[in-house]
Amino acid sequence: MVAQLNPQMTDPVTGKPPALPAFLAAARRQSVPYTPIWIMRQAGRYLPEYRELRAKVDFVSLTRKAELAAEVTMQPLRRFDLDAAILFSDIMTPLQGMGVSLEFAPGPVVKDPIRTDAQIDALPEIVPARDVPFVLESIRLVRANVPRGAPLIGFAGAPFTLFCYLVCGRPSKEFGAARSFLYSNPESSERLLDKLADAMAAYMRAQAEAGAQALMLFESWAGLLAPREFDRFALRAVKRVFAGLKNVGVPLIYYANNGGSLLDSVAQLDVDVVGIDWRTPLSVARRTLGPNKAVQGNLDPAALFSSPAELKRHVDFVLAEAGPAPGHIFNLGHGIWQETDPDAVARLVDYVHEASSRSEVAR
Ligand code: CP3
Repeated sequence: MVAQLNPQMTDPVTGKPPALPAFLAAARRQSVPYTPIWIMRQAGRYLPEYRELRAKVDFVSLTRKAELAAEVTMQPLRRFDLDAAILFSDIMTPLQGMGVSLEFAPGPVVKDPIRTDAQIDALPEIVPARDVPFVLESIRLVRANVPRGAPLIGFAGAPFTLFCYLVCGRPSKEFGAARSFLYSNPESSERLLDKLADAMAAYMRAQAEAGAQALMLFESWAGLLAPREFDRFALRAVKRVFAGLKNVGVPLIYYANNGGSLLDSVAQLDVDVVGIDWRTPLSVARRTLGPNKAVQGNLDPAALFSSPAELKRHVDFVLAEAGPAPGHIFNLGHGIWQETDPDAVARLVDYVHEASSRSEVAR
């Protein structure tokens, strides 16, 4: 009789449980045959096939129609040998689903910025199956169709980053209106952050239940805060999100852009992986975070504009900084730029695999 290959059981050749995909193994700090790589904003405007679709369909429809969101999610996986997919959506999509009126121009613009207790109280709870059914459906579609069975990452915006858009009302360099609100209305700020934390915990749990195999919280703007305000407002709310995700059963990733000076605080979080922007060397991040967290990152998105030979040297440097201990997921330090040449991405992905697999040190 021919042995049946059952992915849930043991490998018929080795008799061991089947190896986890490299991305999930690295997130769990298990050793891997090569360093896995995915890229923040890997589905998006630098890809001709994305621009072709966007010429026919507006951005909001791409995020709210399950088939389209799934299609865009899978585009980069067809072109590159990436080790994970990330759901194509926006951090503001769940808030839009909860009834917050906003447009993308191209960054999020909120019709009535939140500045009063009455507006905070009026923000409803999220019911994912009712408010964002298309997100959950797109997760199911990606899981059924993704090339090479690549693991799928679900995500949400961290409470303080969402707070920046809700209070300011539009993208900003300094988010002055949001940051001054923390100081002028600290209790109201905490209440809004708590509400956002509970909503994002419920939203991410629903993503995992629909099939997301890892969950990432994007903290794009906490780097604007001094460490004390980061701890009091942003980190407290992040802890609340992760407390709400206890026993969710998938690896949790926290990424704080421009977070080098906040790493001592980030080290307190009960997460599996910390995403690091390009300003902090991974060796420094590893020392601060300790041995119980994996790191993700952290090539400067601008490095994709170097010559092919130079790009390899930059990759070698990131791999060397990550060191031989297990628990490194290669990524850029922030989202890929829309001007990036897709061929540079192909070279990056292939070289990360090649260089890390021939490294003498077992990862
Ligand atoms: O190539 C693209 O970026 C096109 C698609 C697009 C997204 N969001 C995808 C996205 C567009 C036009 C937006 C609107 C938007 N939302 C902007 C303007 C973007 C621009 O450059 O014109 C901004 C700033 C937001 C808010 C936002 N969305 C933030 C702060 C984050 C967290 C990550 C970060 O960059 O700091 C997002 C997440 C996001 N937007 C994702 C995607 C596909 C998910 C994460 C990922 O793919 O890595």
